[in-house]
Amino acid sequence: MSPVPFVDLARQFEELSPELERALLRVARSGHYVLGPEVAALERELAVDHGCAGAVGLNSGTDALLLALRALGIGPGHEVITTPFSFFATSEAIVLAGARPVFADVEPESLNLDPSAVEAVLSERTRAILPVHLYGRPCDMDGILAIARRRDLAVVEDCAQAVGARYRGQPVGSFGALGCLSFFPTKNLGALGDGGMVLGNDTRLLERVRALAAHGSRERYLHQEIGANSRLDEIQAAALRVKRARLAGWTEARRRNAGRYRELLANLPGLALPPPDDERFGSTWHQFTVRAKDRDGLRAHLERRGIASMIYYPVPLHLQPAHRDLGYAPGAFPVAERAAAEVLSLPIHPHLSEEDLRAVAEAVRTWAQSN
Ligand SMILES: Cc1ncc(COP(=O)(O)O)c(C=O)c1O
Repeated sequence: MSPVPFVDLARQFEELSPELERALLRVARSGHYVLGPEVAALERELAVDHGCAGAVGLNSGTDALLLALRALGIGPGHEVITTPFSFFATSEAIVLAGARPVFADVEPESLNLDPSAVEAVLSERTRAILPVHLYGRPCDMDGILAIARRRDLAVVEDCAQAVGARYRGQPVGSFGALGCLSFFPTKNLGALGDGGMVLGNDTRLLERVRALAAHGSRERYLHQEIGANSRLDEIQAAALRVKRARLAGWTEARRRNAGRYRELLANLPGLALPPPDDERFGSTWHQFTVRAKDRDGLRAHLERRGIASMIYYPVPLHLQPAHRDLGYAPGAFPVAERAAAEVLSLPIHPHLSEEDLRAVAEAVRTWAQSN
């Protein structure tokens, strides 16, 4: 049996060359590397894809979150409610903006922010809600937006894992004041390095993000506020434009892979599958994340058979050493903590063959039957 890698970026590059090579050389030969036509075109294309008025290319998804919060005026003395079950950048960005992350537990099936838990931690210092569409599955945006409207809170969507996901048919990233994408290489739309983007409908807010990304400057050598150097490179934008043209096909392949796993892994003892898509939730299947009480045993079993898997995420955010000062203790968010102990993501990338899918499923099945 041949090994099944978790992602296969070299294979993706092969599939796209020579188109990708042409695009990269075009930029290299142009001599125009920062703030040029490729970034502007990618911003337009992704804004249109998301039904948004505009977009700003940045150097990472982390900066997208940070600059979105800053553009909204969120800073010291403010609280931002978010999930304890995400990549660290989500809560890190809140701290970097000068605000305090306030966690609310996740729903037991979707593992996304639970609106009723958000409700329970609102305070007079709350300024924003930061939902994360984890694994590519949209959050319950009806529930989150209802709270935000009632309390006049900004919503910043972390769409790092969810480019192209839809909630009630509408693209994520277009619900909140601002939506944040990551182009980290392993994301569904990944650059050949770091990259990110902020999407939105309020052009004044977007212009503030753009200024913040250029040292707080709208006019050359005049700086209105302290910002950052956070621009998307032309070369990354050119690569992303080539990949964007394939994104819908890749997402469809991920969806098919998820459907295939659902058939091949149905009714196995000791294994829970992720919730399926329905008319509300259209996932991009960035991850196919199963749950098992003996998760570490399952992972070791797969590894012995050459099948890669990943744990997203083993330590919830409220228990991260860097957030010790927030004062959360184990037990604060039991749903997230249990998920951290049980989740395992299986390979789902679009270049998997039917043989790969069968090999993964067979290995999971032999583990379930030996339990
Ligand atoms: C949910 C989530 N938020 C934020 C980020 C940060 O994005 P980046 O790595 O581009 O800074 C990532 C990915 O790494 C992520 O998965």
